[in-house]
Amino acid sequence: MSATADPITARVHRTSFALGEDVVPYAYGDGCTDELLLLLAEEVASADRVLLVHDAVAADLAQRVVDGLAPHALVHPLPVSAREELKTLETVLHLAEEAVAAGVTRGSVVLALGGGLVGNVAGMVAATLFRGLPLVHLPTTPVAAFDAVLSAKQGVNLSAGKNMVGTFWTPRSVWCDLDWLRGVDARQVLTGTAEMAKNVLAVLPEREDDYLAAVDGLADPGSDALLRLLQIGVDAKTGPLRVDPHERSEALVFEYGHTVGHAVELASRGALSHGAAVGWGMLAAADVAARLGLLDDAAVAAHARVLAPLGVRVDAPPVLDRALVHRLLLRDNKRGYLPGIGDDVVPMVLLDRLGSARRGEGGRPLVPVPTDLVHAAVDEVLRPV
Ligand SMILES: NC(=O)c1ccc[n+]([C@@H]2O[C@H](COP(=O)([O-])OP(=O)(O)OC[C@H]3O[C@@H](n4cnc5c(N)ncnc54)[C@H](O)[C@@H]3O)[C@@H](O)[C@H]2O)c1
Repeated sequence: MSATADPITARVHRTSFALGEDVVPYAYGDGCTDELLLLLAEEVASADRVLLVHDAVAADLAQRVVDGLAPHALVHPLPVSAREELKTLETVLHLAEEAVAAGVTRGSVVLALGGGLVGNVAGMVAATLFRGLPLVHLPTTPVAAFDAVLSAKQGVNLSAGKNMVGTFWTPRSVWCDLDWLRGVDARQVLTGTAEMAKNVLAVLPEREDDYLAAVDGLADPGSDALLRLLQIGVDAKTGPLRVDPHERSEALVFEYGHTVGHAVELASRGALSHGAAVGWGMLAAADVAARLGLLDDAAVAAHARVLAPLGVRVDAPPVLDRALVHRLLLRDNKRGYLPGIGDDVVPMVLLDRLGSARRGEGGRPLVPVPTDLVHAAVDEVLRPV
């Protein structure tokens, strides 16, 4: 999908993505906060209150949003601390109580200003308060802007695992000044970029040069790197999400690299970012696919090319307890898609060529792989040098 210059101001681009039959508009640019707020004010002008759920670290930006919208709407800001242990139903309940005490009604709108965590928590408030209020995302991290907001999935954690309680709630719109993303640390940037590497390998291989140019430009604040990565995120997601808005079949392709990736992330005990871990997971998935005769050498080499600039290189593996990685593979939440499987099988998203996921039962892009073979691939890519 191509973005076009906004008629009001050339600084704002407009694109959109599909969630089933819904089309969600996404307005973005670089250094365009004032323009975005002018446009957003029109969108929320008919609401009786605007509930601004924001990351506590983005308090200055939240104040700018309050000031920008104030002539047009009554805005009530509520800060959230973006910590996974606070991503709970208790936090959602607390926010809902505060919102109602502040005068939020059925005629109000919820704005989510922050990373993926704040987006999910605010999404849960929007989905449940008065049985549903419009949700508008203002993402402030690469993961949120390129990936998490492009979803109807809202959720919070249980002590047993992440995002285990949740629902589907389609955002009304998304607004992002890429300048908001520049406050995050390098680990966050790497994670957002690694998810785009995944999109290139699994969905959009024709965008490899575009992606590599973006990665090359990331260190230069004057480059269009973030714009390119955002466009790769939107372009990759819209096709699968149009047919699979609940991300239970076609959109499982976005789990590419995540089976081994989650195990690597847990085994690293915080040393590796989610993005680096998913990068290792993609290298392992490519190795598995090559062992099964699905991927040729050129496709495996493309994985190395796309991931090397992120520091995910087989000649520089992280020090990990590989036996622990093996055990953690059996805790992957995709196992629920293949009921009755034993420990001798690991369900994985595998490619049979770049941009094409191998289909399994029910046409899903998920196939059962012998556990021994996955262990061998993990040992190969994470072999100490
Ligand atoms: N489909 C979905 O709904 C979906 C998809 C991907 C991830 N997620 C969820 O999103 C979360 C991960 O998202 P994330 O990586 O954005 O993490 P996050 O929201 O936890 O933010 C990461 C860190 O960046 C900080 N931060 C946010 N904006 C900042 C800014 N502008 N400047 C400086 N620091 C800033 C936060 O305070 C936090 O410390 C997880 O909870 C995950 O489950 C959901």
